[in-house]
Amino acid sequence: MSSPRQRVYVLVGLPASGKSTWLAGRGVTPLSSDALRLLLRDNEADQTIHGVVFALLRRLLRLRLELGAAASYIDATNLTRRERRQWIKIADWYGAESVAVYFDVPLAVCLERNAARQRVVPAEAMESLAKRLAPPELAEGFAAIEVVPTSTRP
Ligand SMILES: Nc1ncnc2c1ncn2[C@@H]1O[C@H](COP(=O)(O)OP(=O)(O)OP(=O)(O)O)[C@@H](O)[C@H]1O
Ligand SMILES: [Mg+2]
Repeated sequence: MSSPRQRVYVLVGLPASGKSTWLAGRGVTPLSSDALRLLLRDNEADQTIHGVVFALLRRLLRLRLELGAAASYIDATNLTRRERRQWIKIADWYGAESVAVYFDVPLAVCLERNAARQRVVPAEAMESLAKRLAPPELAEGFAAIEVVPTSTRP
């Protein structure tokens, strides 16, 4: 009997759309760009080391797949097709399946949640990110797309 395919879950959503909360609810340990910023710079909001953070995330995903992880979760905004491509490509190299998890939460709700939390992303930055957001499509190479709708409770 062949074992089920490994899976890479690519989260897609604006800041404050609820990605990390959803992951915590599932009790999984994600590959998180914010966690790496914290490890490398003592500051999860440091945006000056983007290249290093994402090179390390890709390396970590490859290691997880080599170690046989059944499921890996990429906790980053992954707003564009181009940003998602890197994860799908790595999954393909290992014969793993990519699944998008799309946080379909309106900008207004994200702005509200963002304003109420400790680490506040500037509203102008949120607006320009919302313009860049391209919802994931199967044609990108995802085996499935899960949609997480806006809900009132995390
Ligand atoms: N379903 C929900 N209903 C109401 N509030 C929520 C929900 N999900 C998350 N929140 C709240 O919204 C805020 C942002 O959530 P979270 O940190 O999970 O977002 P995120 O997508 O991980 O953001 P970032 O990309 O900046 O890391 C938190 O204060 C969280 O408690
Ligand atoms: Mg988060």
